[in-house]
Amino acid sequence: MKNSLKIILALTGLALSQIGMAQDKTVNDGVFTAAQVDAGKLVYDNSCSACHDMRFYRDILKSYNNQPVLWLWEAVLGTMPADNPGSLMLDEYTDVIAYILSENGFPAGDEKLDPDKGMDSIKVLSP
Ligand code: HEC
Repeated sequence: MKNSLKIILALTGLALSQIGMAQDKTVNDGVFTAAQVDAGKLVYDNSCSACHDMRFYRDILKSYNNQPVLWLWEAVLGTMPADNPGSLMLDEYTDVIAYILSENGFPAGDEKLDPDKGMDSIKVLSP
């Protein structure tokens, strides 16, 4: 009994320290892959470029400064493309966010951007 309690406390400590590390992440830390950027460009050209230009997205990133990238993803998922909201695949929404971040100077890395994995603890930065 005592031992299992110790193990639970140790695991909780580990989980908390991982959350602490994840919270420090920003879009500057290579949080999407180059393949996602390539895929996102196609989505952007087909579904987003007609109504906004890149300066618009730059301003959006500024307005999301220090907010979780998940919030931006959810806003786009829920409302865009404005003429047919929610019409893209979940991956396409994620890829297009990667493309927009890349176009605004944030680096690709080894890690895939994934709404199921920690996107709530990655902060958007003002470009
Ligand atoms: C048919 C036109 C149209 C298309 C296509 C379109 N948008 Fe929009 N978008 C709008 C309008 C209108 C608004 C709201 C008014 C504004 O902020 O200018 C908006 C707002 C946004 C916002 C701001 C949301 C917020 O939280 O403030 C983002 C981000 C965005 N669009 C991204 C996208 C992305 C990514 C795509 C492609 C998947 C896309 N849009 C396609 C018209 C469009």
